[in-house]
Amino acid sequence: MTLPPAHPLVDGRTNQSPLVRALRGDRPERPPVWFMRQAGRSLPEYRALRAGGDMLQACLTPELASEITLQPVRRHGVDAGIFFSDIVVPVLLAGLPIRIEPGRGPVLDDPIRTASDVLRLRPLDPAALEPIRQAVAMTVAELGATPLIGFGGAPFTLAAYLVEGGPSKDQQRARAMMHADPRSWAVLLNWCADVTGQFVRAQVEAGASAAQLFDSWVGSLSAVDYQRRVAPHTKRALDHLRGLEVPRIHFGLGTDRILPQIAALGVDAVGIDWRIPLDEASATLGDALPLQGNIDPALLTAPWPVLGAHVDDVLRRGRQAPAHIVNLGHGVPPETDPDVLTRLVQYIHAGETTPTRTDW
Ligand code: CP3
Repeated sequence: MTLPPAHPLVDGRTNQSPLVRALRGDRPERPPVWFMRQAGRSLPEYRALRAGGDMLQACLTPELASEITLQPVRRHGVDAGIFFSDIVVPVLLAGLPIRIEPGRGPVLDDPIRTASDVLRLRPLDPAALEPIRQAVAMTVAELGATPLIGFGGAPFTLAAYLVEGGPSKDQQRARAMMHADPRSWAVLLNWCADVTGQFVRAQVEAGASAAQLFDSWVGSLSAVDYQRRVAPHTKRALDHLRGLEVPRIHFGLGTDRILPQIAALGVDAVGIDWRIPLDEASATLGDALPLQGNIDPALLTAPWPVLGAHVDDVLRRGRQAPAHIVNLGHGVPPETDPDVLTRLVQYIHAGETTPTRTDW
């Protein structure tokens, strides 16, 4: 199936947006900027809307998910919305009783650790994704020419939560399982690839103009383990988008040693964390792929001249890549002053047209 005729990429609403152009390798007059985790706790209007409510329940209430997605677009004037949801939503919709503990993250009381645990996993019924499709459709109708980014967790990051039963420092149980029981590991990762792939595909079919896979914990793997035990499953997740002409972004933390393998997944753009400069990342990739990133989120609390100088450096190094989508190197920290994000968007948008900054 191809994208439906009323899709924003097909009917022309978002096709020439700075984000989509940059993801296709172009350099629009104004560099596109958005922030990972732009929706959420840094915004008082989010805290007001969510007060007392359960996070995952909010994700499954289309009006709420849509409104929370739109909040940062209205406030900051970013070049994309990112759908308000969570990487564990498709896991919940597939019937696993996963929940999010505030301040901690996703928790599963009965972790998936043995062959028989893996056999308990059931496929995700596509009908369960209806609230997601509805929320995306409502959001896209409001966004107009601003593209919506759909997303999902990459199989390894998702599996790490399921095996560990919650957040963990370096995913030791998951890394042990991939070697001690490689067969169950492969079945588990295929399951994760399929639920996440269906989740992302549903968002794209309902109107998302780009898709991003988050492999947040992939930095704990050796390059060999990534290649043999993880990358094929990430490819499988991406394969769910086959036939849909939508740009695909891969983001991971600590990926400097595995960038060539990530490029080999066949994605259209690569998100880089704050640990490696964009010019270095681009050179590693043969200057062949648009990059996204990589402002250090820690500097959002630094005095403005310090943050501004850092942003200048990120923009300058980003010119080494064929195209650059400006973003943070990871999500917005919850204590961030939202006015800093708004100012950052204005600064980045003004940047390339301001005559005093022609040295970029
Ligand atoms: O703007 C956006 O990016 C909103 C959508 C979004 C959320 N989670 C909402 C959320 C996205 C893209 C995610 C992805 C996600 N979720 C990742 C990958 C990105 C990353 O940060 O590395 C991961 C690893 C998760 C799992 C997860 N969910 C964690 C670690 C947490 C934090 C727990 C906490 O309270 O500190 C969550 C909860 C979560 N997901 C919140 C939000 C807004 C906070 C919960 C709340 O507001 O009550």
